[in-house]
Amino acid sequence: MYVCVCRAVTDRQIRQAIDEGVRTMRELRLKLGVCSACGKCGEYAKEILDSSKPRITVAPAKDAATAA
Ligand code: FES
Repeated sequence: MYVCVCRAVTDRQIRQAIDEGVRTMRELRLKLGVCSACGKCGEYAKEILDSSKPRITVAPAKDAATAA
């Protein structure tokens, strides 16, 4: 589905860019041109960006009582 009509960018292209390391709207704009003309695609492109970023999980800290 087209996300950015002005630059003919699809959601698939955005997800591929994220897989290739894009993490911010600025990077997305530089790579694909998303949100660089009328700007109407910005909100949806950001939603895709936020929902597709790899999750960073933090391991729970070791409990002091069990670590000894
Ligand atoms: S729809 Fe993306 S800049 Fe216009």
